[in-house]
Amino acid sequence: MKIVVTGAAGYVGSYLINKLLEDERFVGYEIVGVDNFLVGKRENYELIKKDRRVKLLHGDICDREFIGDLLKDAEIVYHLAAISGVVPCNKNPMLAFKINVEGTLNMLEQSIKNDVEYFIYPSSAAVYGEINGNLAREDLPPNPLNNYGAMKASCEMLCKGYYNNYGLGTIILRFTNIYGVGTYPKWRTVVTNFILRALTGEPLVIHGTGKQKRDFIHIDDVIDIYKLIITPKAKGEIFNAGSGFTASVKELADVVSEIAKKNGINVKITFKEARESKERTFAYDVSKIMSLGFKPKYDIRKGVEKTFNDIQSILKTGYKEYQNEI
Ligand SMILES: NC(=O)c1ccc[n+]([C@@H]2O[C@H](COP(=O)([O-])OP(=O)(O)OC[C@H]3O[C@@H](n4cnc5c(N)ncnc54)[C@H](O)[C@@H]3O)[C@@H](O)[C@H]2O)c1
Repeated sequence: MKIVVTGAAGYVGSYLINKLLEDERFVGYEIVGVDNFLVGKRENYELIKKDRRVKLLHGDICDREFIGDLLKDAEIVYHLAAISGVVPCNKNPMLAFKINVEGTLNMLEQSIKNDVEYFIYPSSAAVYGEINGNLAREDLPPNPLNNYGAMKASCEMLCKGYYNNYGLGTIILRFTNIYGVGTYPKWRTVVTNFILRALTGEPLVIHGTGKQKRDFIHIDDVIDIYKLIITPKAKGEIFNAGSGFTASVKELADVVSEIAKKNGINVKITFKEARESKERTFAYDVSKIMSLGFKPKYDIRKGVEKTFNDIQSILKTGYKEYQNEI
């Protein structure tokens, strides 16, 4: 039995592999990770536990022959390789389309050829964009505000098509803002960025009014979702994969500065112009994923506090960049 994780040098993928290795349910599986090191650095493979069940490869998800061979005997595919996030997709639209959409199509195509049982796709809250009302529910139509969200919505449709046409067990998880330290921190995300700035004496910079509300989910809760989603009843479904805990960016900055204060650090908050003309702002309905037994371990305060402590420990050994900027 084999699990394939694409994007294995990435923020979520590297941590997922470590956590799958700790789980009794997956003890009988070989785990094969693949990355082309476009974003996640090759050295990140060193952060993955040495275990005879793990094989880590260098390869491209757009390569048909390579993926065809890789998926032989695979039962579960966690497909995480992508150009992830609004900014890099805006900067590199054609490359992002090639990897995010064509790469996903290649993964789906090779999955049906190899009788893969579960194909887990990490979509994003970005598919909702601007919504009618203030609660994002799975049955709302996608209305993305940027090409990242549009590519995620396209891949959701591809997953649906492969489920409907071939019965491939595709499962779509619409993740919100993932934060926390996994095998490593992703410095560019808002929670981590605020904490890094607080710990290095820089002001916390809010773009726009800071009133835009988002759901935030700790990476440990993301891993719980990734594990519990391997169930026949999830096949063909879309799930909001958030914590159900919402905060505005300003509230988040306040939480970070309070925690910093408890640690003897005074933090300044400053405002700059908004980065996008429209900002999505909504709460997340997570009742569907909860009906499968998901219960988040971290609310925002608890999760940010843990992240603060984890980053403080990491910085003791010096700042390190884990990802290439593209
Ligand atoms: N981090 C979040 O907050 C978040 C939220 C919603 C959805 N997601 C989605 O979850 C997935 C993982 O996110 P992440 O934060 O770990 O991203 P990441 O950028 O840290 O990791 C993605 C990895 O994919 C690799 N990659 C890129 N192109 C590749 C290719 N052609 N072949 C092989 N590998 C390739 C990169 O080198 C990188 O290591 C992505 O699909 C992302 O869009 C993430």
